Amino acid sequence: MAGPLRVAVLISGRGSNLQALIDAFGPKVADSPVKIALVLSNRPDAPGLERAAKAGLKTEIVDHKAFQSREDFDVAMDREIRAAGAEFVALAGFMRLLTPQFVTAWKDKLVNIHPALLPAFPGLNTHKRALEAGVRFHGATVHFVRHETDSGPIIAQAAVPVLSGDDESTLAARVLQAEHRLYPLALRLIAEDKVRVEDERTIVSGAPSADGALFNPAPS
Ligand code: GRF
Repeated sequence: MAGPLRVAVLISGRGSNLQALIDAFGPKVADSPVKIALVLSNRPDAPGLERAAKAGLKTEIVDHKAFQSREDFDVAMDREIRAAGAEFVALAGFMRLLTPQFVTAWKDKLVNIHPALLPAFPGLNTHKRALEAGVRFHGATVHFVRHETDSGPIIAQAAVPVLSGDDESTLAARVLQAEHRLYPLALRLIAEDKVRVEDERTIVSGAPSADGALFNPAPS
């Protein structure tokens, strides 16, 4: 392999997924298959920026409010990403819709983490909607980004049970914990060249699959 995969992480807020990526692949990690080349935020006040700075990572702010159009904003982001030498983009709580031009330019080099088991519950308020739907499992998905929001070839998923007595915040916390394991796992598989896209589905090789079935409620 030709050195670590140089990834730009795009954030808008808290940055707990960014933190999981820093813990897995940050400057302190020897022989990491991923190098975080840039942390870019569209919001100057995103708390995730501090996490990045603390880890000694390069940060940039491209404030969407400073641009007339989405196109101009995305061009500015693209420029910063390339200037930092990144060859791959990971969205981690990035709350702006991307233009078709950006998505096309980064096709199969652009991933997102979504707090639901896609294709169930794309969009916002996924935990509330999962509770309303009464599903017994919920979770998180890492996927390549396509034009339609929260669509694209699925790379990895983590399922968590929905427990009786759950409210939005207990369920969100359970999913978030899973996200923090899932995103590093998915990026590692990509960096190790174990993921390819064929006919708009991914094929993952050289990684163990889950086996068995999960039941919720569990059989006694
Ligand atoms: C996560 O739930 C992620 O799945 C979604 O936005 C949230 C970001 O949280 N896309 P954080 O900023 O990583 O803490």
